[in-house]
Amino acid sequence: MAGPFSDIERSIFVSKEVLSEDHQPDQILERDEEIDQYRHALQDVLFGRTPQNVMLYGKAGLGKTAVTTYMMEALQDEVTKRPDADDVHVHELNCNGKSLYTVVRTLVNGLLPEHASEFPKRGLGTADAFEELYTQLDRIGGTHLVVFDEIDHLDDVDTLLYELPRARSIGHITNSKVGVIGISNNYTFRQSLSPKVKDTLMETEISFSPYDASELRTILADRADRAFVEGTCDDSAIARAAAIAAKDRGNARQAIDLLRVGGEVATRGDDERVDDSHIVKAQELVQRGRLRNRIRDQTQHAQLLLETAAYIEQQGESPARSRTIKDRYEAVAESHAVDPLTTLKSIQNHLSDLHMLGFLQRRDRNHGEGGGRYYEYQLDLDPQIVVEIRQEAEAKPSP
Ligand SMILES: Nc1ncnc2c1ncn2[C@@H]1O[C@H](COP(=O)(O)OP(=O)(O)OP(=O)(O)O)[C@@H](O)[C@H]1O
Ligand SMILES: [Mg+2]
Repeated sequence: MAGPFSDIERSIFVSKEVLSEDHQPDQILERDEEIDQYRHALQDVLFGRTPQNVMLYGKAGLGKTAVTTYMMEALQDEVTKRPDADDVHVHELNCNGKSLYTVVRTLVNGLLPEHASEFPKRGLGTADAFEELYTQLDRIGGTHLVVFDEIDHLDDVDTLLYELPRARSIGHITNSKVGVIGISNNYTFRQSLSPKVKDTLMETEISFSPYDASELRTILADRADRAFVEGTCDDSAIARAAAIAAKDRGNARQAIDLLRVGGEVATRGDDERVDDSHIVKAQELVQRGRLRNRIRDQTQHAQLLLETAAYIEQQGESPARSRTIKDRYEAVAESHAVDPLTTLKSIQNHLSDLHMLGFLQRRDRNHGEGGGRYYEYQLDLDPQIVVEIRQEAEAKPSP
């Protein structure tokens, strides 16, 4: 008997993983200058010297992690070919929401010999953690490159950047060398450091700028070659995904996502190739998904108010005063069997929040003396999409 999968015969993807978030490309394209700066900063490792510290700056999806992984692998590979070079050990840590103690402790735990008990979570101080770190670094020897991603999120980054890069010059370690690599989305990070850190760090700064459409086309064409069956991904699809991402923030992750989702759209439509129309559809889906999450993050009453604003917009009655919105909202709440908020003030507070979050536009109305002053609100989104997202949400029982 034919099952639900039995008529699926072919796929336009040869290797869909190539378009996934965790795929590390073998080749980095369009970042020659950054790679050259990186190469320069780390090359001392090949001659048994301490490398320069490196700080990478750039917004999301610009290749900071991909280039770093590529450089670390290339360096480790090169070192094995040179009998005189030290071993290179790479440690990667994300600092988001972590204390310095936790970060140093994680580093120590990664260095401890196999059967050693972990460094304690509590009871000791950051200085103890650093001491153990130095002991382990010297025990292992070689060069250790420590990558701190989202380094600007670390609570006591001054201590880290004062301690670790100077560990050898101060004499905390003698049998090993350390290079610090920091990654940050925040270009003003350096300004926030203490003067003594600024003076002593002497890092190489590498700044990643947004990709333009032509650079994104190169990156996407290379991915598409490996992800899709030959001839199933049109140049028009690549050009469209590159153009959309370039116009937004020049983010390669976004461009690759569009190509993957475009491929899924084509597959769902039983189309034999991906073209620009699939990418346009993909963008709609991605945007709608993002909006859905943002709407679902709102409180129940805020969601009901958004739904109300969507109906008002559809009926051509926008913008509307909070009083009018309140009347309509009460009906909407009742239709969902929810007890509405009763005071005008609470409605106004919600409307004001929704305005701040960019869901609603607000206009200040001033009717002169005696006329009074009030706000009018209008949905700042496609009302049809808001209504559909709300219908989907209501159709599902709350978790
Ligand atoms: N120059 C490039 N060549 C090939 N692939 C790239 C390039 N730049 C980015 N990518 C790919 O784009 C995606 C996003 O890049 P990456 O994760 O390195 O960004 P990031 O700068 O670290 O972003 P975030 O700040 O969000 O961590 C990854 O899939 C990566 O492989
Ligand atoms: Mg990254």
